[in-house]
Amino acid sequence: MSGVRLRPMEEGDLDTLYPYEQQMFGSEAWSKLSYIEELADQDYRCYLVAEDADGQVLGDGGLMTIDGTAQIMTVGVVPLARRRGIGRLLVRGLVSEAVKRRAREVLLEVRDDNDAARTLYESEGFEVIGTRRGYYEHGRVDALVMRREL
Ligand SMILES: CC(C)(COP(=O)(O)OP(=O)(O)OC[C@H]1O[C@@H](n2cnc3c(N)ncnc32)[C@H](O)[C@@H]1OP(=O)(O)O)[C@@H](O)C(=O)NCCC(=O)NCCS
Repeated sequence: MSGVRLRPMEEGDLDTLYPYEQQMFGSEAWSKLSYIEELADQDYRCYLVAEDADGQVLGDGGLMTIDGTAQIMTVGVVPLARRRGIGRLLVRGLVSEAVKRRAREVLLEVRDDNDAARTLYESEGFEVIGTRRGYYEHGRVDALVMRREL
């Protein structure tokens, strides 16, 4: 993880990251246009990328903050760079951004069967506060709603 840093995401980063979208998020994959629209909304959104010392982009994460509540919209690390602490770095960066934006809490939704992400979020202080039955895959997979108070 040494030498990996966070910086604001730019539209050009999609050239590197978007090819992994389907593999990373399956039925929850976003369109490229959705990312472009998210990046354009700098008032309420903040998207970060993690890049290594060679400028290689390895993952991204996004946050929306409205009226004291922040929501983690996405976190993804490219498959070859996983288990090196980059997901954790991105989550911490997003939580710091939520603090800067004076949020009182950070919420997120995660698939009930996504053990990697759930373990990561729990280890960063998020607690499950509810379940959205059948939220993913046309009713087949539940979402856990998680929250961290700031
Ligand atoms: C979830 C994801 C972002 C984690 O990224 P990462 O860079 O591999 O995570 P880190 O290396 O920072 O891991 C932090 C902790 O998360 C947990 N974790 C990460 N991957 C795990 C796995 N495959 N199984 C179990 N726990 C895992 C561990 O507790 C880990 O700490 P440790 O390595 O000290 O044991 C990555 O697997 C990913 O991009 N998945 C596909 C997209 C996705 O599901 N995003 C989340 C949507 S809500």
